[in-house]
Amino acid sequence: MLKNFIKLFIPPIFYPGVLREIRNKIFFKKKTKKFFDYEKNFYKRHAFINKAISNYKDCKYLEIGVQNNDVFNSIPLKIENKFGVDPVSGGNFKMTSDDFFKKFPDLKFDVIFIDGLHEYKQCQKDCVNAMKQLNTNGVILFHDLLPRSYFEEHVPRKQSSWTGNIWRVAVELSNSKNVDFKIINIDMGLGILKLKEGFSYKIMDELKNKTFYDFLEYKKNFPIIDAEEGLELLSN
Ligand SMILES: C[S@@+](CC[C@H](N)C(=O)[O-])C[C@H]1O[C@@H](n2cnc3c(N)ncnc32)[C@H](O)[C@@H]1O
Repeated sequence: MLKNFIKLFIPPIFYPGVLREIRNKIFFKKKTKKFFDYEKNFYKRHAFINKAISNYKDCKYLEIGVQNNDVFNSIPLKIENKFGVDPVSGGNFKMTSDDFFKKFPDLKFDVIFIDGLHEYKQCQKDCVNAMKQLNTNGVILFHDLLPRSYFEEHVPRKQSSWTGNIWRVAVELSNSKNVDFKIINIDMGLGILKLKEGFSYKIMDELKNKTFYDFLEYKKNFPIIDAEEGLELLSN
């Protein structure tokens, strides 16, 4: 409230990060350059998450990283079936994902949306924990698997539009056993993961020091699909 009031007296150019982004665009053109774009269509992550939910009776939904409830409030389930975890804002469990999984190891979910801390090792942990607490025939979705520029990918964060380096989890999932993994080319890259019997997550230590430019090479072999194929994939 007070923040919004103070904002009225500050020109937008002085909002946090705006000057830095202008400086980046002028002096670090190569690092802000977008190497590709997402499908120009009429879908955002909300559509696919809701499509996934519609496949289950009394679906149990978990969202890791909720922020301003933008997705969480679009989920048409009773609140007892919606679990939103964020240590800072939004959702109904104010804690880190690590603490949540530790505190509630027996909860099982049909749909899990991973969109918490966008750093490789944390996202990897979120994925491994989510896999353990997913019901048979459940689905896990990931936001932000396809960074377009050096700064969009960079950890620590350099600009407002940020995916971080969690694309490395996409490489590991692409190499994991007995999983069905795809990335829909919309809204910063939306990962869809289904598990088969005997699945196992492949940790690839060699990814530790890889950069955005390495990502562009790995991306050539990513299982990227378009929005229509994504809808089909989530139809059962
Ligand atoms: C990109 S935002 C989430 C946006 C939201 N899922 C949406 O689509 O509208 C990332 C959120 O992750 C939260 N976060 C950071 N570290 C976390 C952690 N260890 N566990 C869970 N959430 C975390 C941040 O506080 C932030 O609100």
